[in-house]
Amino acid sequence: PVPVLLDCDPGHDDAVAILLALGSPGTDLIGITTCFGNCAVEDATRNAQRVLALAGREDVPVAVGAAGPMRGELALGNYVHGVSGLDGPDLPEATVAPVEESAVQLLARSLEESPEPVTVVVTGPMTNLGHLLTERPDLADRIRELVFMGGSTERGNHTPTAEFNTYADPEALDVVLRSGVLLRMVGLNLTHQALATPAVVERMSAMPHEVGRTCAAWMGFFGDSYERIWEFAAPPVHDPCTIAPLLDPDVIEWREAFVAVELDGTWTRGTTVVDLYDRYPEHPANVHVAMGLDAERYWDLVLAALDRLGTT
Ligand code: BDR
Ligand code: CA
Repeated sequence: PVPVLLDCDPGHDDAVAILLALGSPGTDLIGITTCFGNCAVEDATRNAQRVLALAGREDVPVAVGAAGPMRGELALGNYVHGVSGLDGPDLPEATVAPVEESAVQLLARSLEESPEPVTVVVTGPMTNLGHLLTERPDLADRIRELVFMGGSTERGNHTPTAEFNTYADPEALDVVLRSGVLLRMVGLNLTHQALATPAVVERMSAMPHEVGRTCAAWMGFFGDSYERIWEFAAPPVHDPCTIAPLLDPDVIEWREAFVAVELDGTWTRGTTVVDLYDRYPEHPANVHVAMGLDAERYWDLVLAALDRLGTT
């Protein structure tokens, strides 16, 4: 299995990403770090731990990360994910505390100690990775690849042009885009193909265990938010789209392109600029950009992982 560090802000779709990584034989989740984003970092940490408790996997260390961005104002996504950041069904309380190390310390130590390079997955604002690669640029070559949910080749969600995660800390993303690490960007153009349709939710709720039923209930809350705010008929389950290609390389089609993030726009701060047609030939490609999703394969991966977790 691929060793994976997951930096996240759970969050309904982050929670499913955690479960997908835990329930799949192809990934070995060696640590979780948390960040502000969908909610305050304290809530994101509590939510991550409760998801681990639900999965019976509290052995995975959780380290607390950034409470706010490298620069600029704090943006939070409670308007999508609710007061707790993970509203909806009741969850078990965690029985273990987060580790004493900070997120940056846990990331740095795990990268140093791992016998093989580690895949880093980021499903929230890029802040912790921005700090890590600023303080320890030498660790860049310990990262096998960095897969992140954020940005878009098209429009945004938090603002008309900016996706939430890239809006929440553009300076941190800028550090990462310039780091030389092998980057895979999974933006809204891809994740809007990962819809939890009624048929998908039905497959979750039909599972004879708490893991499946809890995910179905999360999709209910998340779906109501997406219908209210963005008029979606079914919620896009963004974050597990970063884990799925680690399990099945054919689930996503990629295209190499130059990607930059707007730091100063009057209306466009946090917007990703994805040069699909080589309009900036002086800027070589720096990112593998996710373009197409095989949604059937995606949901088969997610549902199989949930079922494995629920029945073991
Ligand atoms: C991203 O923002 C959050 O709402 C989700 O967890 C996802 O990471 C989508 O824009
Ligand atoms: Ca997220």
